[in-house]
Amino acid sequence: MEATPRPSINIMTALLLLSLHGFIGPAAMAEQPSISADQASLLALKQHITDDPEDLLSTNWTETTSVCNWVGITCGTTHTSRVTRLNLACMGLSGTLPPQLGNLSFLAYFNITNNTFHGSLPVELSHLRRLQYFSVRGNFFEGEIPPWLASLPRLKYLFLNANGFSGTIPESICNVSTLQTLDLSENQLAGTILPLIFNIPLLKVIDLSNNQLSGAMPSSVFSESPLLDIDHSSNSLSGVLPQNICGNLPNLQGLFLSFNQFSGGIPSSLSECRQLQVLALSVNNFSGTIPRELGNLTLLNGLYLGVNNLIEYGSGGVVSTRGDVYSYGILLMETFTGKGPTDEMFSGEESLKRWVKNSLPDAVGDVLDAKLLSREELTAAKLECVSTILELAAHCCTELPGERKGMNDVLAKLEKIRTVLGQM
Ligand SMILES: *[C@@H]1O[C@H](CO)[C@@H](O)[C@H](O)[C@H]1NC(C)=O
Ligand SMILES: *[C@@H]1O[C@H](CO)[C@@H](O)[C@H](O)[C@H]1NC(C)=O
Ligand SMILES: *[C@@H]1O[C@H](CO)[C@@H](O)[C@H](O)[C@H]1NC(C)=O
Ligand SMILES: *[C@@H]1O[C@H](CO)[C@@H](O)[C@H](O)[C@H]1NC(C)=O
Ligand SMILES: *[C@@H]1O[C@H](CO)[C@@H](O)[C@H](O)[C@H]1NC(C)=O
Ligand SMILES: *[C@@H]1O[C@H](CO)[C@@H](O)[C@H](O)[C@H]1NC(C)=O
Ligand SMILES: *[C@@H]1O[C@H](CO)[C@@H](O)[C@H](O)[C@H]1NC(C)=O
Repeated sequence: MEATPRPSINIMTALLLLSLHGFIGPAAMAEQPSISADQASLLALKQHITDDPEDLLSTNWTETTSVCNWVGITCGTTHTSRVTRLNLACMGLSGTLPPQLGNLSFLAYFNITNNTFHGSLPVELSHLRRLQYFSVRGNFFEGEIPPWLASLPRLKYLFLNANGFSGTIPESICNVSTLQTLDLSENQLAGTILPLIFNIPLLKVIDLSNNQLSGAMPSSVFSESPLLDIDHSSNSLSGVLPQNICGNLPNLQGLFLSFNQFSGGIPSSLSECRQLQVLALSVNNFSGTIPRELGNLTLLNGLYLGVNNLIEYGSGGVVSTRGDVYSYGILLMETFTGKGPTDEMFSGEESLKRWVKNSLPDAVGDVLDAKLLSREELTAAKLECVSTILELAAHCCTELPGERKGMNDVLAKLEKIRTVLGQM
């Protein structure tokens, strides 16, 4: 009897030593449920699917095969081999999300885009501590946007767009310091845009378009922000745009504010967003003149200002989106000549237009801004391109809106010219 080993003591000692060396910590203990818990979670999801038109899950998610081989499921490659990705996008699935999904403790990517899931997002999803990507875009989820989303410590991409979410945007969302993309568009969200929302430190894309948001555009961006795109179009936002709108937004490429009720002047400081490529302000109540500083935005390839109270650019008071084309024509002229209608050599827009038109087609070298092309670069071919651009600009400024080209035609033509220039 003396010789009988006492394995239980040895195992305990080994475990104690391992944990003292940090190999087994409390976290590892808590994650022990492992792959069988993942299987139980996914089977619960399968049970909550009420329609699976292509029989994808019903024939494929079977207990006899490893979950890692199930359609839409990816497992990690580490020793743990747990479920890390779930992608059931565009499978025509209907149903609800069960609380058991909160047990997929290694899940980093969750995407059920474009199905017909409904109900609410179970609070147990807040247990997914490794979740980085969460998309339920294009479903029928309802209720308020759950505030616990803000407690997911690694969340980078959040797509709740094209659902039936209502209520207000939870303030806690501004606390998600890891967030890079926030898409809440096409819901029924009301209330105001949180003043701190542009201060989410890593946020690059924010899309709140097609909701019922009201109130003003937030103005307080405290420190330099990496934001690239802001889309707030099709809401009920009002008030004047903040004068310092570009302050701390040096990387902004797209600002989409069309279909709101903004009023007041278009801030000339928008020209400080040097990277701006698209500026969409159409169908609002902006008034005053189009600031000539916008001509400094050399990367701008889409400018939408139609249907506002600017439209010295309309004709006989006729409101038309073709007004966009008119202002774009003036902008092109300003950009290539380096002169605006208020320049001392003109008595307004008419004489700028006349000056440019008179130079066409052979004397464009005389009106061209000397800063754009130095003399030695002025080949005949390049001058011909400039001439084509200014002809297009003159055409955009035709008095009768009905005779003007549509914006798409203009942009397509410019794109062609750009291609030709690129080949020189
Ligand atoms: C389930 O689908 C995956 C991915 O399409 C496939 O590799 C696997 O063989 C399928 N399993 C069964 C049991 O049909
Ligand atoms: C999974 O989650 C459910 C509901 O949240 C819970 O009751 C259950 O104990 C969990 N199961 C496992 C195996 O962890
Ligand atoms: C979701 O998955 C689909 C299919 O893989 C992909 O096309 C889409 O970009 C993903 N994300 C979103 C937000 O839809
Ligand atoms: C989801 O549906 C929308 C609208 O039909 C479509 O524009 C989008 O491309 C779809 N997304 C995917 C990933 O298929
Ligand atoms: C956001 O974080 C701050 C600082 O950690 C905290 O004081 C505040 O209560 C949080 N706000 C919300 C709405 O969670
Ligand atoms: C638009 O602005 C003008 C002043 O510029 C104001 O008189 C008018 O009430 C505004 N209209 C709307 C619909 O807000
Ligand atoms: C922007 O344009 C205005 C008027 O067109 C000009 O006076 C100003 O110097 C320009 N600013 C910069 C920074 O280029």
